[in-house]
Amino acid sequence: MNKNSLIFVTGHKGLVGSAIIRRLKFFGYKNLLTISKHKLDLRVQSKVELFFKKYKPKIVINAAAKVGGIVANNKFKAEFIYNNIMIQNNIINSCYLNKVKHLIFLGSSCVYPKKSSQPIKEEYLLKGELEKTNEPYAIAKISGIKMCESYNYQYNTNYKCLMPCNTYGPNDNYNLTTSHFYPALIRKVHEAKLKNKNKIILWGNGKAKREIIYVDDVADACIFFMKKKTKETLINIGSNTEKTISQYANFIINKLKLKIKIEYDKSKPNGTPRKILNSSVAARYGWKSKISLDEGFSKTYESFKKIINE
Ligand SMILES: NC(=O)c1ccc[n+]([C@@H]2O[C@H](COP(=O)([O-])OP(=O)(O)OC[C@H]3O[C@@H](n4cnc5c(N)ncnc54)[C@H](OP(=O)(O)O)[C@@H]3O)[C@@H](O)[C@H]2O)c1
Repeated sequence: MNKNSLIFVTGHKGLVGSAIIRRLKFFGYKNLLTISKHKLDLRVQSKVELFFKKYKPKIVINAAAKVGGIVANNKFKAEFIYNNIMIQNNIINSCYLNKVKHLIFLGSSCVYPKKSSQPIKEEYLLKGELEKTNEPYAIAKISGIKMCESYNYQYNTNYKCLMPCNTYGPNDNYNLTTSHFYPALIRKVHEAKLKNKNKIILWGNGKAKREIIYVDDVADACIFFMKKKTKETLINIGSNTEKTISQYANFIINKLKLKIKIEYDKSKPNGTPRKILNSSVAARYGWKSKISLDEGFSKTYESFKKIINE
């Protein structure tokens, strides 16, 4: 593989896909292939197969998916399972049919059981019940992992499935119905500031613990592992930055130098009580996250203000 190898990045307009493109360019990769959803709906097998036949990419990083936070996952269960299974089946099988050597398939930490021991090791997959609110999404992603494992086993490929923890950064989704918890917190605190409110209301009791990672670290992990031969198919990508939702809210409130109260809507679900990844497999290969919570927040908040045209 060299810097001119053709790399197909799916989902290039999304949070993770756009960071992968940004970081590939930064590292000098010149031959990047992208296509918008309107020109190629990755759920349509015949079109995906034709696209692969025509372009013959050498490397594929699949960052296209139907993604969302607890509200969206709970509400659009059918879309989460259907879209994700269709997209990944088409990508993984087209990679095999077209002899793509390097494929990165992205999943997330919600593939692991709700009551996993913590920090979560890769081997805990399928060892218990999933969190109900995102079960269809998790089942889809688990089938993607099992598909990559089966192809590696039967066809001797080296497809890798990276499981990042909660990811944030420029180009995130700040729609309160569909966003993840951290961009939602940024938006709620920012709006409280603009409207001079003295409180924000958060879902659940604020005690659920989450690990978050800045998106460029995830993109760098994709680039790092696309070139690596690994024994493992499934690899966790965590930052070891862990706080409760309430601590993240206070962190943002302090960053914006505000004095506001947090109220909790305890009628709403908390989600999984704790989700922190054991990323020692990734560390053994030489990868670790680099960007601190402070640096990640500053970069993210700057881009958020541009998005909302402040
Ligand atoms: N965000 C997180 O916290 C997080 C954490 C861990 C892992 N991940 C993983 O990272 C990957 C990307 O997530 P993300 O947060 O970047 O999501 P995102 O911002 O919603 O981006 C998803 C991308 O997929 C594209 N897409 C969706 N359906 C498509 C279809 N049918 N055909 C073609 N393209 C389609 C979207 O295109 P449009 O822009 O045109 O809609 C968008 O560009 C996912 O596999 C997710 O599991 C994300």
